[in-house]
Parts: sequence; C-alpha cells; structure tokens
Amino acid sequence: PRILILGAPGAGKGTQSAKITEEFNVEHVTTGDALRSNKEMDISEMDTEYDTPGEYMDQGELVPDEVVNAIVDEALSQAGGFVLDGYPRNLEQAEELEDMTDLDIVLMLDVSEEELVHRLTGRRMDPETGDIYHVEYNPPEDDEVEERLVQRDDDDEETVRERLGVYRENTEPVIEHYEEQGVLERVDGEQAPDEVWEAVKKTIEDAA
Ligand code: AP5
Ligand code: ZN
Repeated sequence: PRILILGAPGAGKGTQSAKITEEFNVEHVTTGDALRSNKEMDISEMDTEYDTPGEYMDQGELVPDEVVNAIVDEALSQAGGFVLDGYPRNLEQAEELEDMTDLDIVLMLDVSEEELVHRLTGRRMDPETGDIYHVEYNPPEDDEVEERLVQRDDDDEETVRERLGVYRENTEPVIEHYEEQGVLERVDGEQAPDEVWEAVKKTIEDAA
C-alpha cells in the first residue's frame, strides 16, 4: 500500500513507520532522515535564504519546498509501496504530492502538545542503527546501545517549541485539507507504543 502518516513533531511517526515497513513490506520515505543525511548540502543555487538544509533544521524552520519536493519525487519514483513520513508539511507540498502519486491510506497520529514536548526532549537516537528511544518510555535494554545514544540537534526545548509553532501554522491546514476530502484516519497516538501500533495496523488492514 501507499501510506501517508501525519502528526505533529514527536507524535510517533518514525516509531510507527518502522513497524509499518516491517509488517507491510513497504519503504520508509522520510524527509527528516533524508535531510539529516544532507544537512551540509549546498542549496545556495536555489536562491534560498540559507545555504544548507541544516541551518533551517537547527532553528526548527521548514527547509524550502523546492529542496524537499525534489527529494520526495525522487524517492517515490523508486518505491513500490511506501510509508511517507514528514511530508507534506504545507499546502503547497500537498499539491505537489498530488501530482506525484495517489495514496491508499492517510493516517493521523493525535497527541496533545504537552506530551509532545516531553517525548521530544526525552528522545534519544542510536546513530548506528537509526533506532528511536526515549529515556523514560523506551530505554534500550543493552548497556552498549545506551552508551552510544545521542540527542537530535533540534530536540532542545526552545527548538521543540519553535517546531510545534511551525506545525500549527503550516501543517495543520494540511490535516484539514485531508479531513475535508474525507480520507483522514485518526488514531489516538497518546496511548502506549504497542497500543498505537495495534490501532495503526488495524486501520491499514481495514483500508486494504
Ligand atoms: P522530522 O524529522 O520530520 O521531524 P518531526 O516532524 O518534527 O517529527 P519527529 O521526527 O520529531 O517526531 P516523530 O513523529 O517521528 O516521533 P518519534 O517516532 O521519533 O523533521 C525535522 C526537520 O526537517 C524539520 O523541522 C524541518 O526543518 C525539516 N523537514 C522535514 N521534512 C520537511 C518538509 N516536508 N518540508 C520542509 N522541511 C522539512 O517519537 C518521538 C519520541 O517519542 C521518541 O523518543 C519515541 O521513543 C517516543 N514515542 C513514540 N511513540 C510513543 C508512544 N506511543 N508513547 C510514548 N512515547 C512514544
Ligand atoms: Zn520522525
């Protein structure tokens, strides 16, 4: 299936996408990860405010559409089934996406703002595997893994607040857009990860 997963920063898009890729044998197309691997890429030719994606990301701002649209277009043209995570983040991107592909399922993970801040400031990443952890909710069992965990550059509280503001302003209209089309499947993302997964899995299976 071609799945779109929507939700605020920290809603659990990455966590659930990892499970979806395994269960449904689809590719994880994520603009956040793609941009993090290309933080130093020279985009100055595109006449953007900053010269690299990293300068936008570290301030919690959106990277210019031109850069992100090209990444997604390329990735989707090579994928069969996919779960798309991190895109579209504004109505212009949603329009671009409509020209790139059809979608079978549009999922939305609903989580309260207070919980989002707590999740993001406590998140840790394994730089070797890309696995996502949380100091309280999901600590690693292995001491060796625990020692190498790192915090994402944009997970300090100030940048988290900025990202949530950008989400409210730019991405909530995208949610409304899919809602108006009658295709949005809301899942309660505030439950424990396994319970969220049960709901996500069922929603995908029911839509297939
Ligand atoms: P991106 O990487 O997409 O970040 P985001 O949308 O802010 O989302 P996150 O990755 O922070 O959260 P998530 O929903 O994946 O949550 P996770 O599963 O990790 O984008 C980063 C930046 O790149 C942007 O700010 C922007 O600059 C740029 N960018 C990306 N896409 C762009 C685009 N389209 N256009 C322009 N710019 C773009 O979980 C979070 C934490 O919670 C973890 O610690 C996890 O263990 C824990 N957790 C997860 N689920 C649960 C649960 N059910 N209960 C308890 N804890 C949980
Ligand atoms: Zn993510």
